Amino acid sequence: MSLGSNPLRDPQDRRMPRIAGPCGLVLFGVTGDLSRKKLMPAVYDLANRGLLPPGFALVGFARRDWADRDFAKVVHDAVKEYSRTPFREETWQQLAEGFRFVRGEFGDGASFERLRETVEELDEARGTSGNHAFYLSIPPDAFPDVVGQLKEHGLAAGDGSSWRRVVIEKPFGHDLASARALNNVVSEVFPPESVFRIDHYLGKETVQNILAFRFANAMFEPVWNSNYVDHIQITMAEDIGIGGRAGYYDGIGAARDVIQNHLLQLMALIAMEDPASFEARNLRLEKQKVLSSVRIPERLDLHTARGQYCAGWQGGQKVIGYLDEDDIPNSSATETYAAIRLDVENRRWAGVPFYLRTGKRLGRRVTEVAVVFKPAPHLPFTQTSTEELGSNALVMRIQPDEGVTLRFGAKVPGTAMELRDVSMDFAYGGAFVESSPEAYERLILDVLLGDPPLFPRHEEVELSWKILDPIVQWWADNDKPEPYSSGSWGPASADEMLARDGRSWRRP
Ligand code: BG6
Repeated sequence: MSLGSNPLRDPQDRRMPRIAGPCGLVLFGVTGDLSRKKLMPAVYDLANRGLLPPGFALVGFARRDWADRDFAKVVHDAVKEYSRTPFREETWQQLAEGFRFVRGEFGDGASFERLRETVEELDEARGTSGNHAFYLSIPPDAFPDVVGQLKEHGLAAGDGSSWRRVVIEKPFGHDLASARALNNVVSEVFPPESVFRIDHYLGKETVQNILAFRFANAMFEPVWNSNYVDHIQITMAEDIGIGGRAGYYDGIGAARDVIQNHLLQLMALIAMEDPASFEARNLRLEKQKVLSSVRIPERLDLHTARGQYCAGWQGGQKVIGYLDEDDIPNSSATETYAAIRLDVENRRWAGVPFYLRTGKRLGRRVTEVAVVFKPAPHLPFTQTSTEELGSNALVMRIQPDEGVTLRFGAKVPGTAMELRDVSMDFAYGGAFVESSPEAYERLILDVLLGDPPLFPRHEEVELSWKILDPIVQWWADNDKPEPYSSGSWGPASADEMLARDGRSWRRP
């Protein structure tokens, strides 16, 4: 997508890997799940692919009473369990020499003084040259303390020849007002170009492929509008429950957890006009235009649905309901399933509903975008039954089983003109020998390279909350979510919501 800004790279040769220059990463929240399952393995995978500088440094900051070697052990275990690429002793040894641990509290100045000393020591010992990214994988209420301390201890700004960047993970607030407050805190310390907001869906190869698919080809764009498209379905279904994340999830729910960010970003990529270039400013501008054209339904009772999983069967195992999960109050009204209809009020999409749905403990893990086309204007098959023929659909399979499917009607071999739906498939696994990097590999590398296109900016975050706030408010003021069995495809009200529009959800 972007050429990046790495001087090591010859801009003429697009196959050259993008390699980060001298730098380090400071990780706040090293004891959390995200660090262990995604961030530490991604750092290792990048090192293993030769994309990190030889003197790369990884600093862990947490309250634990750890020495550097205890931290190294934690990273080691995480890498062994979750990294994508094979474990190579040589990569590990070189990487581990750059590990440091700083024991500290977010509100304690002395801890950040130690962090400053550590960073300076790394500049000397590892040649990180003053270039450091601070990754805040911590609850948003800890942001003010941390960014304030970074500023106070001279960690937030480079010296002119070096850079400092901050990486923030969602949730970017829990509504518009809190998102603005959070942004004020961060923007008082870091200029906009140094702030990297992570929406890990944008780091997925298949999500970036939406742009390639739409804008590198001539044959799809002519039908990509309300003349041909009947509606669009964006599905993010998970088979897992909330696991050990009660503290984060309860009171947040499915809409704030993933519609506000991942699904609205997918929708923006599907609906946007072609950007002048894939530079951050142009890409973000087009996404922003879509988000500002979104209209929410007037009748939220008819065009939204939500549910909460109860006990059921999944993968041959009996699983418990949401209210029985550890640390969930049994009066909780948090939704674990959400479906909403949105309309985009512009010339291209007027009259084409976008249906977004997500849920936990559904029948299967699948994320896809289905563009469903209008029926053919005339079917000249008088002798043939055509009722069974479905709509033409183009399905972008985001995960798992990454690829694209085109569904259309075809003649069944034989004498009569009998018709049936068939599909034409592109599968990543079959077409490419390279396997896809994890989203976090791509995004961490982009942070270290200072390459911003895949990071939403604050305006997009605000616009997304403007869409969602009235919906979650309406839900809070009205009934509880409808129970659905684990392993099913969600509450009946979601099916009714589409049936009212004369449509039905796909069963992926
Ligand atoms: C996260 C959500 O952003 O995305 C989780 O907080 C969800 O609730 C996860 O499980 C899903 O990510 P992926 O990449 O597995 O689809």
